[in-house]
Amino acid sequence: MRRSQILTLVGLGTLAGGIAAAVAYLLPWLPQPASREAGRIDFVFWFVTIICIVIFGIVAAALLYSVVKFRAAPDDDSDGPPTHGHTGLEIWWTLIPTLLVTAIGVVSAIVLAKNDRVGKDYLHVNVTAQQFAWNFEYPSGKNMASGVLRVPVNKSLLLTFTSKDVIHSFWVPEWGQKQDTVPGIHPTLHITPDKVGRFPIICTELCGLGHATMRTWAIVMTQAAFDKWLKGTSTATSSPNPAVSGAAVFKNQPCGGCHTLSAAGASAKVGPDLDKLAQYAQQANQPEEDFIRTSITDPNAYVQPGYPKNVMPPFNLPKDQLDALVQYLVQSSKKG
Ligand code: CUA
Repeated sequence: MRRSQILTLVGLGTLAGGIAAAVAYLLPWLPQPASREAGRIDFVFWFVTIICIVIFGIVAAALLYSVVKFRAAPDDDSDGPPTHGHTGLEIWWTLIPTLLVTAIGVVSAIVLAKNDRVGKDYLHVNVTAQQFAWNFEYPSGKNMASGVLRVPVNKSLLLTFTSKDVIHSFWVPEWGQKQDTVPGIHPTLHITPDKVGRFPIICTELCGLGHATMRTWAIVMTQAAFDKWLKGTSTATSSPNPAVSGAAVFKNQPCGGCHTLSAAGASAKVGPDLDKLAQYAQQANQPEEDFIRTSITDPNAYVQPGYPKNVMPPFNLPKDQLDALVQYLVQSSKKG
């Protein structure tokens, strides 16, 4: 091979590899990682991607060069010269991929083992999935329940999943991992959030009519803010003052994800407008308080005309929380 040929090949390879590297690096394929586990997974992705880009550059260079250099004349219908195998080449193109795939396997195994290792001091949260809502219970906060997942930053988080009906899948893109929730078993997921902020929680398993609405938020806070919230909310939800605790229950449950309620600053339009509860109860010909209570515990018993059935899940709240929520909704809808 002449020097000029080698230079052409190297040039073509660098060009092809450069374009592939730019596509990989400059386009936002993945969200910015916000957990230690996602950071490690990102590392594995880049490890594999760089290997792929180098191989792509070599293959593309050989291919482009051959297409131009060994192009047959338009009227040349003759067969090419016969070729035999090349033992030296075959040894190399078996050995190198074997080493690369082994390296990818080893790096992945190390990352998986590290990601599964739960720290000694961790926060345990029980996650319940049902059509079509997430609920989070904090055993360290008197089993206080919330429709939003609030967690402290830089602390091991152990989620234990329960499904009340079908298979759902828990996913926070920035945390980098998914976990199916399967009825009858209780899988766990270990995450160490390392960025403060608000991240979407998405159900990524088609689970029925309301699948697309099965979303909520993970809010990562400083440890001090989290402790204050956990303490404040676990006392607020058992407070004897219905006006205060009803608002807290509304906020901690996923109601605002689907409904409008001016008093709570909620403006979603998936389900009926809770500002109009008095009017709906009249249309249904039921006393307002009973109407609201049934709509929470058995939402499909009566569905406001114009809204789909079987979208809202039944909510089995503790009695004091349910009473407070009903009172809060009665008061809020009259004011609204
Ligand atoms: Cu739950 Cu999709």
